[in-house]
Amino acid sequence: MSTANLNHEEEFNTDSFDISLWKKIFKLLWEHKRLLIILFTINIGVAVVDVAFPYLNKYAIDHFVMGSGKEDSVVLFIVLFVGFVVWQGINIFAFFHVAGSIEMNFAYEIRMKIMRKLQELSYAYYDKTPNGRIMARMTSDVNHIAEIMSWSLMDLFWGSTVMIGVTIVMLIVNWKLALIVLVIVPILAYISSWFQIRILKNYREVRKVNSLITGSFSEGISGAKTTKTLVLEQNNYQEFINLTGSMRHRSIKAALLNAIFMPLVLGLGAVSLAGILWYGGHQVLIKSLEFGTLMMFTQYSSQFLEPLRQIARLMAELQLAQASAERVISLLEEEPKVYDSDEVIAKYGTILDPKPAIYEKINGNIEFKHVYFHYNPQEPILTDFNLKVKAGQTIALVGETGSGKSTIVNMLCRFYEPIKGKILIDGIDYRQRSIGWLHENLGYVLQSPHLFAGTIKDNIRYGKLDATDEEIIAAAKYVNAHEFIMKMENGYDSDVGEGGGRLSTGEKQLISFARAVIRQPAIFILDEATSSIDTETEQIIQHAIETLLKGKTSFVIAHRLSTIVSADRILVIRKGKVIEDGDHDALMQRKGYYYRLYTNQFNEELSDRLLKIDK
Ligand SMILES: Nc1ncnc2c1ncn2[C@@H]1O[C@H](COP(=O)(O)OP(=O)(O)OP(=O)(O)O)[C@@H](O)[C@H]1O
Ligand SMILES: [Mg+2]
Repeated sequence: MSTANLNHEEEFNTDSFDISLWKKIFKLLWEHKRLLIILFTINIGVAVVDVAFPYLNKYAIDHFVMGSGKEDSVVLFIVLFVGFVVWQGINIFAFFHVAGSIEMNFAYEIRMKIMRKLQELSYAYYDKTPNGRIMARMTSDVNHIAEIMSWSLMDLFWGSTVMIGVTIVMLIVNWKLALIVLVIVPILAYISSWFQIRILKNYREVRKVNSLITGSFSEGISGAKTTKTLVLEQNNYQEFINLTGSMRHRSIKAALLNAIFMPLVLGLGAVSLAGILWYGGHQVLIKSLEFGTLMMFTQYSSQFLEPLRQIARLMAELQLAQASAERVISLLEEEPKVYDSDEVIAKYGTILDPKPAIYEKINGNIEFKHVYFHYNPQEPILTDFNLKVKAGQTIALVGETGSGKSTIVNMLCRFYEPIKGKILIDGIDYRQRSIGWLHENLGYVLQSPHLFAGTIKDNIRYGKLDATDEEIIAAAKYVNAHEFIMKMENGYDSDVGEGGGRLSTGEKQLISFARAVIRQPAIFILDEATSSIDTETEQIIQHAIETLLKGKTSFVIAHRLSTIVSADRILVIRKGKVIEDGDHDALMQRKGYYYRLYTNQFNEELSDRLLKIDK
């Protein structure tokens, strides 16, 4: 099964704490400084009350219980006490409200930034990064960081404030008793962090295995047919058993760690309490300590435990969230491989804020001039590649798989740029104009067309956002899509499903043709666009394509040669070089590579047809 997406957590090493990374996250968080400052203020308010309560109790015990207070000061005390309780209630309400706002705003801002980045990044990024990974960064990674940066951070701040406050009050009131409480701090801190990181790691493992199990389930169901035909049942079952076994093991381990940790913390607390009672009790007996103060210290000693545990948990959480933070930051810092120069941006605007009014019209003369290209340096794909195409010509590219056909058209689309050399459009290096300008004038139909969730009409309209319904229908008729569209439940308003899932690949292809047609681009690129349409449909749209491409510079890549015989020029590509160049008749006469390819395919198709007739 494919676990690549689910295992994306493995991508980064999370062992050491990366300060510079968290600095970057804090910088992002600091954009919400108004909310942060409000939150910290509230936080201090909460912490002050938390510290003050035991002191109030001490006062009550010393003055009212042990005796020297007056009746009227009791009333004042009760008013003060109730006031504190109400004040704390309001604080805590505000605290939750503001922390929640920070979480939401922070996540929202990061998502906007990622979305913006994704628009700017060039095709190369999508080529090398699986969708699932980008999705995971957008959703779970961002949520994870936002949660930590709001709630956990607040807990940390609250915890530290309470601890500092309690420490100060204790030291002022009675430093000897204070030391007895403080002595357990380092021990508790060490134990807490030791346990917390292990507990969280196990829980994270459980979550990961859980998502693998879900994946395994859904693969088992959706791949049932393939499983049966490949007789993989036993394999799948075994894999499932392994996964659930590992989940059980991890869950039990986490529970066990928790079970040891809790009594340890409580035990330590009890030891510190015993120390206070032993020493403090003795002092009370010899009258060198007030009873209220002793009570206050017993309260403080237990109040110390909670923040300490919170802090330990948070440190563990931060460490585990580091992987998420790294993934988000690395995406935000990803530089697009193809970008416009500053001068070009000044003139034509950016991708997100273009100035289409000044885009020059494209005639369609194209020239590759001494172009060099590779994806990785050890493996040159194009070396000194030259090609001159006159406006309005249809160029077919043929050649065996991996020969570089798609690479050539991807370079023309500026999905990749030449490493050396130039590509000229109408005599001008395309890097002197903007990417937006080029893409505005390109019609690109791919082998696996992508439709967006929505209606058929919407999907055709993506080609030209201000198209009228009439234009849409005309475009659909043009590519012979009208008929099947009208047969659908709601005609042009039929829902195509997510990714066009409710249509066949051929139907999706026709829609994507209509989408390209309505745009009326100057340059057309069809990369294996007809390969998933059956021979009959292909013949129907063949005619449409020919009309469509007439007068426009177009590049057509097709394995099925019958679709390109009428091209003005056929280029046979081999290892990134043009080895034959001419129209169909000329190449057939040459009796070279194209001739062999064509006659082979022709014979195959012929025998295919004969076989069908036999049936
Ligand atoms: N994104 C990429 N990263 C690295 N190498 C790549 C990438 N895309 C293509 N290649 C390599 O470049 C070479 C040319 O690939 P290209 O896709 O241009 O071939 P093609 O002629 O279109 O093949 P096909 O007929 O199978 O579509 C191949 O060796 C391929 O492995
Ligand atoms: Mg290709």
